[in-house]
Amino acid sequence: MDVRCQSIDLGDASALQQLKVDALAVGLFSHQDQQALHQTLELLLSPGEHAALQARLAQRRFKAKPGECLSFERLGGTPATLIVLGLGEPAGFDLNGVRQATASACKAAAPANSLALALPLEGLPQQAAGQAMAEAARLALYQDQRFKSEAEPARGLDQVLLLGLPSDLDAQVGRAAAHCSGVELARQLVAAPPNVATPQHLADTAAAIAREFGLTLKVLDRNDCEALGMGAYLGVAQGSDLPPRFIHLTYSPAGEVTRRIALVGKGLTFDSGGYNLKVAGSQIEMMKYDMGGSAAVLGAMRTIAELRPAGVEVHMIVAACENMISGGAVHPGDIVTASNGKTIEINNTDAEGRLTLADALVYACKLQPDAVVDLATLTGACLIALGEEIAGLWANSDGLAEALLRAGEATGESLWRMPLRQSYKEGLKSGVADLKNTGPRPGGSITAALFLQDFVSQGVPWAHLDIAGTVWSDKGRSCDPPGATGYGVRTLVGWILAGAPAGPAA
Ligand code: BES
Ligand code: MN
Ligand code: ZN
Repeated sequence: MDVRCQSIDLGDASALQQLKVDALAVGLFSHQDQQALHQTLELLLSPGEHAALQARLAQRRFKAKPGECLSFERLGGTPATLIVLGLGEPAGFDLNGVRQATASACKAAAPANSLALALPLEGLPQQAAGQAMAEAARLALYQDQRFKSEAEPARGLDQVLLLGLPSDLDAQVGRAAAHCSGVELARQLVAAPPNVATPQHLADTAAAIAREFGLTLKVLDRNDCEALGMGAYLGVAQGSDLPPRFIHLTYSPAGEVTRRIALVGKGLTFDSGGYNLKVAGSQIEMMKYDMGGSAAVLGAMRTIAELRPAGVEVHMIVAACENMISGGAVHPGDIVTASNGKTIEINNTDAEGRLTLADALVYACKLQPDAVVDLATLTGACLIALGEEIAGLWANSDGLAEALLRAGEATGESLWRMPLRQSYKEGLKSGVADLKNTGPRPGGSITAALFLQDFVSQGVPWAHLDIAGTVWSDKGRSCDPPGATGYGVRTLVGWILAGAPAGPAA
């Protein structure tokens, strides 16, 4: 998809007619009498067409509420399709409104090849608006037909013109493609079934990124991990016939390194629950998405590798495996020793993500990073607390938490900070080992975060994003078609491109 900016005047009829696009979408605020729109439309439409469109708007009681959309096919005119988009009140029209409107316009235009989009962007930062539109256009039309034997015709637009933005923004808008490629990679990995997206497949994906963009890759096998004492991670992996893969991918900038960060992703390519087997109604068939954290960090690495930001060295760590049942699987009650020497009583085999992350976090902290951020589909409790649209954020550093909240806000991914309530650690006390992996049901996503914190070295700024709710959307929303969302890629990339700011650890 080619996205360009074009600063034409919507009042200029000949410029509008020369656009040579199949479809034109025009945004409209709800408070406006529809004068401004009609002035533009009068320039484009014959008086007969204009009257017909007005009748349609009236008949549909078009109120220009956010998401409201009317498309009008013309016989023989150019552009052939006109789309009127509702934007709601101007005060509430922010970058998320821009994304939503762009997504609706692209979906409405879909069978067309080219679309020109005119939104009232006064008062919004132009560059951010251009990038938001370019991303929304591509992400909203994302389709995944890899596993269908007969593909439906693709509905992608070849060309999108962003009217009213200066063409010197083209380079910036072009960079949106790199952001989208990262999100799409994450979506593809999450949506792939567990017999395809295996631990080896995640390692192969990292290898492909390393090859294409010149990154460094280290993949540790079971023996290597044993040598490092990763008993928590290997305990989870031991019930599966598929070998574990501990993946460490590194982006090094040209020139001086001023900051080193580590991104850690939960990489359970399938989570059966183990002997604490998931039961019917626990969405066991959806547990292919339990590698959503690793998909997000792989996607972010792909984008970073392509954009090559200066100054920041980025390490990606994924302890990939499956949580399965067999004669060799861990028993509920087993005690394992993590690579920092801590012993863990596995009182619930279904709290496996934190066990894999424990060894991944110990490994990440040994790199002496300026910040560590982990992403994980960690707890059903987080999905219950915050729903599908908001990820939970825990951090031992206010500066890091603020920076991630800002990045999420700017890129349209929602985060909500949650407390690391130290008194809840009581719930993880074990009578036989240093700690157990599961606390009581109340506050389950908080105790999960507190468990992880035990494996983060003192003084290392660390944040944890629980993406159990946001990794998947059954219905879809705004720029996310139904299915895998690729959540997390944009926040991580935004944070890193802003210089990966972090304050000191508390
Ligand atoms: N992968 C699940 C968390 C999950 C559940 C993500 C539902 C998305 C939707 C995780 O490994 C898990 O099973 N967590 C348990 C923890 C419990 C045993 C303390 C949970 O949330 O039930
Ligand atoms: Mn589980
Ligand atoms: Zn899990």
